[in-house]
Amino acid sequence: MDLLVESFEAGQRILATRSAAARKIHGQYLTPPTVARYMADQLGTLPKKFSILDPAVGSGMLLCAVIERLINENITAEVQIDAYEIDPILYETAASTLERAQIEAEKRGLRLNVHVHCHDYVLAETSHRQQSLFTVMSEHLQWYDFIIANPPYFKLNSDDPRSKTSRALVGTHTNIYTLFMALAINSLAPSGKSVFIVPRSFCSGAYFAHFRSELAQQATVERLHLFESRGQNFEEVLQENVIVTFSQRDRHTSQTTPIVISTSQNGGDIENAEPRHVPASLVLHQHDRSMFYRLPTEDNDAMILRSFDGWNGSLHGYNMEVSTGRVVAFRAEAYLALFASEDAVPLLWMQHVKSGIVRYPLVELRKPQWIQQSPDTETLLVPVLNYVLLRRFSAKEEPRRLVAGAFLSDDFLSSTVGFENHLNYIYRKQDELSDAEVKGLTALYNSALFDRYFRITNGNTQVNAAELRSLPLPPLEIIQSIGAVCMSNPLVDVDQLVLDQLFEANLIPSDLLIAEKI
Ligand SMILES: C[S@@+](CC[C@H](N)C(=O)[O-])C[C@H]1O[C@@H](n2cnc3c(N)ncnc32)[C@H](O)[C@@H]1O
Repeated sequence: MDLLVESFEAGQRILATRSAAARKIHGQYLTPPTVARYMADQLGTLPKKFSILDPAVGSGMLLCAVIERLINENITAEVQIDAYEIDPILYETAASTLERAQIEAEKRGLRLNVHVHCHDYVLAETSHRQQSLFTVMSEHLQWYDFIIANPPYFKLNSDDPRSKTSRALVGTHTNIYTLFMALAINSLAPSGKSVFIVPRSFCSGAYFAHFRSELAQQATVERLHLFESRGQNFEEVLQENVIVTFSQRDRHTSQTTPIVISTSQNGGDIENAEPRHVPASLVLHQHDRSMFYRLPTEDNDAMILRSFDGWNGSLHGYNMEVSTGRVVAFRAEAYLALFASEDAVPLLWMQHVKSGIVRYPLVELRKPQWIQQSPDTETLLVPVLNYVLLRRFSAKEEPRRLVAGAFLSDDFLSSTVGFENHLNYIYRKQDELSDAEVKGLTALYNSALFDRYFRITNGNTQVNAAELRSLPLPPLEIIQSIGAVCMSNPLVDVDQLVLDQLFEANLIPSDLLIAEKI
């Protein structure tokens, strides 16, 4: 009897009867069995007696994977198992699956003491911990040796009862998944270990800065496994996922042990994932008083990170700024036009920006490409100057995350221009970017080297202004020199040009210059 697969199939049958919207309310996406087994393996050595929690048990898969391990490894352990599930139907399934697992395990000399609770984990956990602050209950509080979870993911409103009740205990959380992680860190026994499968967003997103610093202070991240293809493990979850393994650590020490980084496309090839031991200092990166988790998953990645970390340049350092296009089409609808006219100026969309250049107007584009110039639109328009335009979103299948185009004022006759909200535009404050600077920055952003750096440091298909500001840049002379070559030879191979110039300036090692694949 394969309880793990049975529990997955039972869970899938239940979820198949629900609409996508209903599943989304509780973040219901099941872990495939191969991934569940991999996660159970990450718990490391299982002792003869331990406690384990799954705070969002679904139909019971992750705990079944742990029990399967105990049976396969002939460990005759005594195990205290706690599980929570908010959905009564999934709860019934988990309870009956784990009851059967208990009977099977007992036949093999294992003693499982299983408690499945049909409750909201966050509310139950915060009320236990908070009561314990005032009563003798703290002696009876459960500290777990292991926590294994695929928690729900969705944005949490500040007036959600879970946000309110947990704030005093673990601070403010904008997504329910980091709230589950924070509560887990809080209830792990000393040296207890936890494995979570969650979106990658917490590694770099601005909203998660506080959580990252708490995680770095209280836990040792032992391993990070990255799924490169979005949505293949959990249909409809269109973001990269990671499996993060962390253990409880004394607040007064900092992480020194290397972090094991691995990657696979999806759950199917996870068993072949090759582990890479990376110094914690390379993964945990401090920038502007914020901390980030970076994921160097390929051969050259450590070299790329070390190179970029050595550069002191940045947009602000060169008196440049990045802003988001001011024209939100549906709000400015009354002023948009499909055809040119005397009182209209160009309106540029993401589609006008393509591999280094700005192509405007586009015959094939079925969008209004002009916007009226009037007192009403004054705040939406910017003067025609030199800019670097960057798409704010890249499509999933697009080869590059950063897509930049050079907007040169000489190519436009009007005095002002509109940039639609899906574009970022870079300019120089109180002055203007030179043509060479525009061309040079555009080449850098479009290069394979910068694309790779961006992927190591960020799992998002969105390119935010904050991320562009924190992107290290080489010295301005190098940017200008790259730009000058692009101007004299528009067909130059940008990837190679960027590598050659950075190498000549001693800004990257020679190994990167000859690397076949970045
Ligand atoms: C992403 S699914 C994972 C289910 C299962 N652990 C697995 O790995 O397949 C998250 C589960 O948490 C449940 N859930 C959502 N919010 C919860 C809460 N506040 N407390 C307990 N369970 C919750 C959902 O109903 C869902 O079954």
